[in-house]
Amino acid sequence: MKSFGIGVIGTGYMGKAHALAFRQAFAAFGSEIPEPRLEMLCDADPARAEQRARECGFARWTGDWRALITDPAVDVVSITTPNGMHRDMAIAAAEAGKHVYCEKPLALTLADAEAMAAAVRKAGVGSLAGYNYIKNPAVLHAKRLIEAGRIGRIIQFRGVCDEDYMADESLPYTWRCRIADAGSGTLGDLAVHLISVARFLVGEVASVSADIATVHVDRPDPTRPGETGRVENEDQANALIRFAGGQMGTLLSSRAAWGRKNHLAFEIHGSKGMITFDQERMNELRLFEAADPAAEQGFKTILSGPAHPPYDRFMPSAGHSLGFNEMKTVEVAHLLGGLAGNHPLYPDFEEALKIEHIVHAILASAKSGGWQQLSA
Ligand SMILES: NC(=O)c1ccc[n+]([C@@H]2O[C@H](COP(=O)([O-])OP(=O)(O)OC[C@H]3O[C@@H](n4cnc5c(N)ncnc54)[C@H](O)[C@@H]3O)[C@@H](O)[C@H]2O)c1
Repeated sequence: MKSFGIGVIGTGYMGKAHALAFRQAFAAFGSEIPEPRLEMLCDADPARAEQRARECGFARWTGDWRALITDPAVDVVSITTPNGMHRDMAIAAAEAGKHVYCEKPLALTLADAEAMAAAVRKAGVGSLAGYNYIKNPAVLHAKRLIEAGRIGRIIQFRGVCDEDYMADESLPYTWRCRIADAGSGTLGDLAVHLISVARFLVGEVASVSADIATVHVDRPDPTRPGETGRVENEDQANALIRFAGGQMGTLLSSRAAWGRKNHLAFEIHGSKGMITFDQERMNELRLFEAADPAAEQGFKTILSGPAHPPYDRFMPSAGHSLGFNEMKTVEVAHLLGGLAGNHPLYPDFEEALKIEHIVHAILASAKSGGWQQLSA
């Protein structure tokens, strides 16, 4: 199988997660995927790029992302920079004929996201967006249970995605608070993941009715001592949704929810049972089946194990638990296998664009106060 040369842009939180995943994927998945060659690492600070390239096993480094994209040995460009840089980097990579693996959300605006999807479509290159929570073996198993009809006909999806990284009202005003630099608030940062799960497990969203709020409106501005900056994007967003299949749903999200660290949780109600999940306990899936005898009814907790592929690529023992970085490794293995033609890439930029459409419909609904329809 052909190997793929990898270039990663960014060495922060997600840059490290991508680098670890590219290092680990071939060891975990072996010859079922092509081997990644760690060709180049880029950071705006070249000294940091060099240090991280040495630590992560990349052959070369650069402080110029355009040099990484045009490097002949790089076949796949991984973009882990802040949201406002995704568009230019992804379009340049596609135009250079490189496959593009980009962190979520796709971009700051719908127009930018559309331009990114159009660029990969036109270039005919592969694309993947970093919606890693749908790569968790427990969530993949939820999908199998639904497809096997274990909870019957789906009637409702109730989802929440909360964290508390902006719950403290004394936190300083940063780029995250500005639409021009961050785009939306909790919607683009957290709710997009929940939308990826809702679409993966239930299907197309047809309409939304939403409300948003900024709860910490002014934050101390570190660049102007004694003064504050006005937060432009939302801390909280709540939406009622209708799926194209008629099912009801809710999407609730907050970046100011004290105590919540990675509370991406959902309940899927079916005509014969229910599935529940919380990413803070990412190795547990809970299943209720109405068909159980009356005296034994209750939720059972299914611990992830080798019966829930691809958990088995990491270890043979159930209940020993995977973590966030293994989920990212599953995503990278999916990317490499997809580029080898083993399966379609999902979620590609077309799918990520649909997620962006839902975010922007939620914002439009919050502004208009009415339901917003999404075109099919
Ligand atoms: N999938 C997930 O679960 C998840 C989690 C966190 C963040 N993210 C996404 O990942 C992206 C990055 O977030 P982060 O938390 O890793 O940010 P970060 O600030 O930790 O890292 C950003 C990196 O980009 C680098 N960078 C900035 N400008 C650059 C330039 N011009 N050239 C090269 N490098 C440059 C910075 O030096 C830094 O290394 C965001 O889009 C975010 O939404 C996804």
